[in-house]
Amino acid sequence: MHYSFPLIALATIISASPLPANTNVNPKAITSTKCTAKQVTINSHDINVALLSICGGIAGKIEQCQGNPTNTTGASGGAFLSLEAATPGQTIDITKGRWEGCMRAARAVCGDSPFTSTCIGGADINRGNVNFSLAAQ
Ligand SMILES: *[C@@H]1O[C@H](CO)[C@@H](O)[C@H](O)[C@H]1NC(C)=O
Ligand SMILES: *[C@@H]1O[C@H](CO)[C@@H](O)[C@H](O)[C@H]1NC(C)=O
Repeated sequence: MHYSFPLIALATIISASPLPANTNVNPKAITSTKCTAKQVTINSHDINVALLSICGGIAGKIEQCQGNPTNTTGASGGAFLSLEAATPGQTIDITKGRWEGCMRAARAVCGDSPFTSTCIGGADINRGNVNFSLAAQ
């Protein structure tokens, strides 16, 4: 069987890059971001693990915050994340994709130093926003 070169090249490109991690930064994903302690650097691996431990855990196949909490935390090592619905009375049902996008956007502003910010959407089926903060612990 003979394949034309372009087809082989295309197949190689596709198989070499299965679902690359989303690294896009959208500054409009967030608002009201304040870096609260620029001199502090939190271990980035700890932040990444804490990020997946909000809402009792959103790792693996879980794609959304479970349980509709009004607030939730995620912690690992030196990283402590706290989330709260920006509008009192609303609950957090943020998807993993949106949450990761908001964290990328905030870390693009503050690096791995503590911050407070607001994620656009993520509460009450995106009718409301989610305030979130990163602190050292
Ligand atoms: C956080 O959620 C708990 C229940 O999960 C609730 O008792 C508490 O009042 C909430 N705190 C705030 C600040 O909303
Ligand atoms: C969420 O953050 C916004 C912007 O900083 C603030 O106006 C609002 O009061 C905060 N919501 C809560 C529940 O603290």
